[in-house]
Amino acid sequence: MAANPSEKKETHFYYPSEAFAQNAAIPGMNAYRALCRAAEEDYKGFWAELARENVLWRKPFTKVLNETNPPFYKWFEDGELNVSYNCLDRNLENGNADKDAVVFEADDGTVTKVTYRELHKRVCKLANGLKSLGIQKGDRVVIYMAMSVEAIVAMQACARIGAIHSVVFGGFSAPSLSERIGNAGAVAVITADRQIRGGRHLPLKAIVDDALAMNENHAVENVVIYRRTGDKIDFVEGRDHWMHELTQSQAEICEPEWVNAEHPLFILYTSGSTGNPKGALHSSGGYLLWAILTMRWTFDIKPTDVFWCTADIGWITGHTYNAYGPLAVGATIVLFEGVPTWPHAGRFWEIIDKHKVSIFYTAPTAIRSLIKASNENAQFAPEQYNLSSLRLLGSVGEPINPEAWLWFYKHIGKERCPIVDTFWQTETGGHVIAPMPGATPLVPGSCTLPLPGMFVRVVDETGQELPWGQGGILVINRPWPSMIRTVWGNDERYKTHYWPEELGGKLYQAGDGAIRDPETGYFTITGRIDDVLNVSGHALGTMEVESVLSAHPMVAEAAVVGKPDDLTGESICAFVILKNELPKGDEAKTIAADLRKWVSQEISPIARPKEIRFGENLPKTRSGKIMRRLLRVIARGEEITQDISTLENPAILEQLRNSL
Ligand code: WT7
Repeated sequence: MAANPSEKKETHFYYPSEAFAQNAAIPGMNAYRALCRAAEEDYKGFWAELARENVLWRKPFTKVLNETNPPFYKWFEDGELNVSYNCLDRNLENGNADKDAVVFEADDGTVTKVTYRELHKRVCKLANGLKSLGIQKGDRVVIYMAMSVEAIVAMQACARIGAIHSVVFGGFSAPSLSERIGNAGAVAVITADRQIRGGRHLPLKAIVDDALAMNENHAVENVVIYRRTGDKIDFVEGRDHWMHELTQSQAEICEPEWVNAEHPLFILYTSGSTGNPKGALHSSGGYLLWAILTMRWTFDIKPTDVFWCTADIGWITGHTYNAYGPLAVGATIVLFEGVPTWPHAGRFWEIIDKHKVSIFYTAPTAIRSLIKASNENAQFAPEQYNLSSLRLLGSVGEPINPEAWLWFYKHIGKERCPIVDTFWQTETGGHVIAPMPGATPLVPGSCTLPLPGMFVRVVDETGQELPWGQGGILVINRPWPSMIRTVWGNDERYKTHYWPEELGGKLYQAGDGAIRDPETGYFTITGRIDDVLNVSGHALGTMEVESVLSAHPMVAEAAVVGKPDDLTGESICAFVILKNELPKGDEAKTIAADLRKWVSQEISPIARPKEIRFGENLPKTRSGKIMRRLLRVIARGEEITQDISTLENPAILEQLRNSL
């Protein structure tokens, strides 16, 4: 929100180089617009053609989209396929058999390379092993593992036999795991003895034991354990099986289970802003199609690329852009077990250098923490490494503030690599709004324009489309192939949560606010709708304030929450992490005053934080998401009663609480 729109600075665009554009899948804005037009003119024809070209069908579909029971849409419903066949066998048949599928870098730096032929073999053996335990098509299998080749093998093996996997992030606690196992009605769990992160061994199997003990009604009959560390574990005879023993004598070929396009591929739990986690259910055909197309369009994937997505397989990004998309297009992926700052803060740059990564996809929070680290110690700055293999960068998970974008662009991409800021969600299966790297002129802080085939709108509370320049609710107004099919076991929740009556029941509500640039129509995500503050009757995106605070030269990271205020309805409380040490006393007061003035200047006096608290870090989930609900509690001075099991750094809560 510029204080005065007429003062809006002229937009500076960043263009792809000619060489990049020429070789790109979508080689310019005309090509992009032509695809958008094709989708507009013949929606079903557009998707049908792409589905025929990109997915290998056992039995071709004749029906494209079934809209008879909205919002329960069906795509390609009479087609048959197998996702694992599409990811693995396809590559044995098209000359990629001896190409590396996965380059795994362990926490301690050990590298293991697995070819497509080898991956296929391992998947078939585990698939046969699972079948030998009686696991069948439609059964749910929970995967509770860290980043490993075996985790990808486990996901692919489930897909191969038509079992529905539900990966639970290895950082979740026993109660959270137990809840998910119970909700999914899982018959088996695949796990590891332990995981290794940042030099520490952390239990996984023991947590599975605890989770199962917590729920007497669970349906789990088998637990398969990958031996990662060899640490001692408790072993329940008859229930527990070592993965290497289970697969040892299995055949190296497993005929895929041909499933209907609508057959569920996986359930992935996503925490809503409140309430129990929702099990987002994804299909086989539509999901795979979009995973493939976004690899081609957003990532412009080429046979020679080395693709590194840093997201854990416990999240949707790790599903679509580690376990499925890249394999289906025959790419080589880097899979990293460890953390960005161990044993030193240059680890990411070291890995890019070592494995000649060409496409690097990560999260703004990681970028910001590495900016801080490289400012503190030049030894770990990206300049110490050779990053010349990079040709494309990507960002995902939250809005990337322009300051972090520019740093990423300059210091990592050397002003040579386009950045794709990809807006999407667990529920969307793949990218929704993102630049096409060889086409779209980039603007830092904007995810730019929807992908061809995605019909995104900004509407008001009644579902009416708003003119560009006016902030509102982001919706998708046509079903798309990789969309969530339902909330597992709760059709009603799916319907009411994502297709709200107030908007007319026909618009998919993402839960985010957005605004389109009045001139370009570019989208900027203004934050979760539930994070919009109302100060003196003015709506303010928390992200907007955060972005401005983060752009201050002294600030490393900032999070903003609302707090009830007698005078203004809501007031702003900002949690700020400085690039330098934690300030104390008068120094803190002076800096806080400077920051208030800065926000006043950059947005408007209305956006000025009433309260500023300094800390050494923010409370984050292990996936790096700032836990704003905890910050809200701290801002209000209330006791923390919420679940903090997914918190990476619990000690920070105490510090922030005492920071006034
Ligand atoms: C929410 C979805 C999509 C994979 C990781 C997160 C926010 C995600 C962006 C972006 C602004 C973003 C949204 C969205 N988000 N990407 N590029 N710009 N916001 O998946 O946990 O389902 O979270 O993350 O708020 O709704 P998720």
